[in-house]
Amino acid sequence: MGAPGAKRRAAPATLAARLGPHVRLETDADGTIRACFAGHSVGLGAFSTGAADRAQDLRKGLPLRSFVSGRRSIDKDMHRLVRRLARHGLLEYRLGRSRNGKEQVVIEPQVADYWPRTPPLRNADALVLSRFAYLRRRANEMVLESPRAGALFRICDPKIAATVAMLATPHQLKQLRRQAGFPGLELLALLVDCQILFKIESPRASGLRPEEGDDSLVLWDFHDLLFHVRSSEGRHANPLGGLYPYANVMPALPAVRPSWPGRNIDLCKVSAVQPISAAPRLLNERHSTRNFDDRRPITFTELARFLAATARVQSSFESRIDLGEGGPAVAYAVRPYPSGGGSYELELYLAVDKCEGLARGFYHYDAGAHALVAIAVHAHELDSLLMAAEFAMAAPAPPQILITIAARFGRVSWKYSSIAYALILKDVGALMQTFYLMATDMGLGGCAIGIANIDLFAKMTGIEFHVEGPVGQFALGRAAKLDAPS
Ligand SMILES: Cc1cc2nc3c(=O)[nH]c(=O)nc-3n(C[C@H](O)[C@H](O)[C@H](O)COP(=O)(O)O)c2cc1C
Repeated sequence: MGAPGAKRRAAPATLAARLGPHVRLETDADGTIRACFAGHSVGLGAFSTGAADRAQDLRKGLPLRSFVSGRRSIDKDMHRLVRRLARHGLLEYRLGRSRNGKEQVVIEPQVADYWPRTPPLRNADALVLSRFAYLRRRANEMVLESPRAGALFRICDPKIAATVAMLATPHQLKQLRRQAGFPGLELLALLVDCQILFKIESPRASGLRPEEGDDSLVLWDFHDLLFHVRSSEGRHANPLGGLYPYANVMPALPAVRPSWPGRNIDLCKVSAVQPISAAPRLLNERHSTRNFDDRRPITFTELARFLAATARVQSSFESRIDLGEGGPAVAYAVRPYPSGGGSYELELYLAVDKCEGLARGFYHYDAGAHALVAIAVHAHELDSLLMAAEFAMAAPAPPQILITIAARFGRVSWKYSSIAYALILKDVGALMQTFYLMATDMGLGGCAIGIANIDLFAKMTGIEFHVEGPVGQFALGRAAKLDAPS
């Protein structure tokens, strides 16, 4: 028993892995454990009977420290099982001071390889909240999120929100410890690991923009990074794509907007000019092609002509920016499609599945040199990229070439405040139509693809997701007979 009047230190919080609410574990007669959820079943491998029994504790939560560094074979089995469940995104993690009491937070992974880590923190360390972190209501819960974070935190104890608010300005750990609602070292370390909090060099530093991350991060506005991450695939766990979430709630909006009640001025007679010129003919013929003729793939020469006509740098110049005296000179490289502010921030990466005269692989198109540069990637990553495009088009096979349109975000945000990301997406639209029209003109087929996996691209290129990343995709190839332009 402690001396009367002495201040009791709160017990350290325990981090436990538990199954997501929709996941059930089943064990086959041969010891294979399967995770079952939403009508799917994933095999996780064969395990001992002891491990299969203990796995049922994952329903309520199994403390990580009970098996992570254990030497017994059952601990090793549990570690293997939990890591496999984590890789499939089937786990969440509860942090609490007692096994069955109320948790402080529940951690929901947002990226495929999230694993909770608690980097060491010292009393002298000064912490501050990331400018990308935000607290919001989700149904009846409060969640703490950030587009930089590998996980989101469901806040179960309101005192944590007070600590988060306090960390709008830097505080040393020793100051935080003195606060009545100090949430404990474990939670702070988990938040640092997720880049929701970050350490600053000196407690007197401001913790403002330049101190968080690299120069490329400095250039991002809060809403732009959030929009980029939440509206693409790979760094969040929200439902994604054409899922018709409101089909049972309300009817679809009409295809054509109902007319305004004002006077109707007919355009039909005057617009029917004969003979029809090349541009409207091309526009009329343009359509999306999802099925490609793999017996006669697109050729290297066709690809070179396609890229030259749509994306090659045509000319370059320098211009001094108008900031009064002594503004810096900026270089420009003009290309065939329009681009907001002449930024030309879009880069093309080609996943080549079938192209006569060009090896299967992943390439960057150097628009200045009009050359392809091979990038070494793992075969399974190239396959995943092509398979995702096949899935997005509901096509019977992968496209012959998948063009990933990636943006060098900083090229635009260096100039434009608030509208940088929106401008980039508009540039993507202009480039996509350019691709469509050129493919039509060359007798090739193409299809825009709206979803791209920003995490996969980061892994394939080794470029961090906030520096350069996918903002659109385009499938290209020779159309199968059925899909050929009529
Ligand atoms: C921004 C954008 C994203 C698209 N994403 C997809 C996609 O993911 N999968 C797909 O099959 N088609 C996609 N499409 C193609 C459209 O479905 C197609 O343009 C539309 O149905 C009209 O048909 P058309 O292009 O043949 O005229 C996309 C088109 C655009 C412009």
